[in-house]
Amino acid sequence: MYLLKIMSSLAIVLVVSVSSFADTPTYSKDVAPILYDKCVTCHREGEIAPMSLLNYEETRPWAKSIRRHVSKRSMPPWFADPAHGTFSNDPTLSEDEIDTIVQWVKEGAPEGDAADLPKLPEFIEGWQHGVPDAIIELPEVNIPADGDDIFPNLMFTPEIDESQWVEAIEIRPSNRDVAHHVVIFMNGSNGMQDDFDILGTWAVGTAPNEYPKGMGRRLKNGRTLIANMHYHPNGKATTDITRIGLYYGKGELKHEVNGAIKGDTRFTIPAGAENHEERYTWYIPKDVQIISMFPHMHLRGKDMRFTVTYPDGEQKVLLDVPEYDFDWQLFYYPEQPINLPKGSKVSILAHYDNSAKNPANPNPDIDVGYGNASTDEMMFGIFEFIDMPKPDEAQTD
Ligand code: HEC
Repeated sequence: MYLLKIMSSLAIVLVVSVSSFADTPTYSKDVAPILYDKCVTCHREGEIAPMSLLNYEETRPWAKSIRRHVSKRSMPPWFADPAHGTFSNDPTLSEDEIDTIVQWVKEGAPEGDAADLPKLPEFIEGWQHGVPDAIIELPEVNIPADGDDIFPNLMFTPEIDESQWVEAIEIRPSNRDVAHHVVIFMNGSNGMQDDFDILGTWAVGTAPNEYPKGMGRRLKNGRTLIANMHYHPNGKATTDITRIGLYYGKGELKHEVNGAIKGDTRFTIPAGAENHEERYTWYIPKDVQIISMFPHMHLRGKDMRFTVTYPDGEQKVLLDVPEYDFDWQLFYYPEQPINLPKGSKVSILAHYDNSAKNPANPNPDIDVGYGNASTDEMMFGIFEFIDMPKPDEAQTD
């Protein structure tokens, strides 16, 4: 009799928990998989995000803040307007994932049954792409304990083995508690417009840059690299040495990747201007296929948009970044590479806020123009491209 009683009450408990389970998402079953997949690359000890979100205890106090950031889509960081183009490195949460988190917080952010937890992701320490074939070491940077973020520009001319071609590049700051982004430019002999290139970028949470199969780059000896760094002091004085790992391709390089930096260097943004506009047009000189795009401005940058006008007059927006943020230097990799026939024009449209309303503006009282310092401005798009494959060799391997 007693046993029967226990069993029937168990049955009731079971029914109750099953039904509330269906309605209420729990941390263990529903939320942890999203955080493990989309957040903890940055939100864990030793990475730049301000707090770790690896378990329930760490996550619970942030529940409301997490709801706010995922609802307005400010986390994970991503800036392309989804109305234009799809990108293979888009980390955005799906509507379902956002709904799950919103619902979870609304219901009191319950933990649920720890047995439902997915396996913690394995974090690869060291080089994520494996041991590089060659390593370029940047000069050491001293980061003070406190104060504003610092943006040093480091210049150096490394030895390059020109007989090799590069199929992947990984940039690794040694001190990821404070390193926020790295953009590595390569200087040529005759200034920016014709002969300035980008080697790679790193921002918190980004993967190594692996070119699609059969594609790669040749690097020339004797070019000066300019590394534009961004560090965020975190309470103790420290140092960083950033390293660039090069991975050589084997056999023949089928499609050579080139980088084009297209934009204006002669412009002035008047003091106090809230919505200063700059435009630049890149005339496409031969049939090319774009594999990545990278918008670049500094602290006054507001928005940037790339639009192609095809030779027949048809227009298409390739990338629109309506709320540019200098803190996040991101490449955008179109899911399908973009063919641009000779005679196409790509227009670059940028706006700047040089007023006091822009909280990032270091000085609203001065006119500002082109320059390397983060307190100067820049205006360009970087495009990585190959010669357009012939129809029969398109997407061969
Ligand atoms: C690419 C790295 C990265 C990823 C991925 C990322 N975050 Fe963040 N997160 C940051 C950084 C850095 C900050 C600090 C503020 C800033 O710089 O924008 C932050 C701030 C936050 C904050 C605000 C903290 C505060 O101090 O108020 C919340 C909440 C948050 N992230 C939640 C998330 C969630 C949830 C995800 C996944 C859906 C996520 N983040 C993915 C890097 C990241």
